[in-house]
Amino acid sequence: MVVGLVRKKIGKHFDGELRFVRGMIEGPKQVGAILPTSSVTARVMARVIDPASGLKVLELGPGTGAITKAILNRVSPQRLVSIEYSTPFYNHLTATFPDVHFINGDAFDLDTSLGDLRNETFDCVISAIPLLNFPMSGRISLVESLLERIPAGRPIVQISYGPISPVAAKPESYTIKHLDFVVRNIPPAQLWTYTKNT
Ligand SMILES: C[S@@+](CC[C@H](N)C(=O)[O-])C[C@H]1O[C@@H](n2cnc3c(N)ncnc32)[C@H](O)[C@@H]1O
Repeated sequence: MVVGLVRKKIGKHFDGELRFVRGMIEGPKQVGAILPTSSVTARVMARVIDPASGLKVLELGPGTGAITKAILNRVSPQRLVSIEYSTPFYNHLTATFPDVHFINGDAFDLDTSLGDLRNETFDCVISAIPLLNFPMSGRISLVESLLERIPAGRPIVQISYGPISPVAAKPESYTIKHLDFVVRNIPPAQLWTYTKNT
């Protein structure tokens, strides 16, 4: 029985990784990582949420749902809005977390993707979008557009794998901080936050 349970757990684990590899083969530029985010990294990212704010959280690029799961340990599913570009990932996410508001859309086109929620104020943004695969001008516009949707002082947290912030400095607009370096992630992950300068 124990062996059966262990097999089931390992099977589930590899299921997520297989799904990720398939996504990687079908859209390497969109996926931008070799394995799902580790639970350690996901927990550190979700720690920026202020559950007491009562506001919804905006997640970008949930993929297999590793970070989604950590977010749901901090807020109820009704308080999570999550935008995923890939339809196969989106279909899997809606089946796995039926009470979360997933949107099959493009995070770089926020007004269209958010639809009725385009004027919503979110508590913070948690992003796994592979920013390095997109032009710098688009990354900066995305950060500025996201900062318009969260209260002053609240962060966007972004995962990346390079040694420097994936979004260039723009001190007249936002402050960049290095949040953490997580070795228990493949590859090791750098976490960055962006907050609005008022
Ligand atoms: C590095 S993977 C996310 C990994 C995820 N944390 C996990 O553990 O499965 C990046 C994700 O961002 C999604 N993505 C890429 N470009 C996007 C865009 N423009 N809008 C929304 N999602 C996007 C990809 O489809 C992929 O699911």
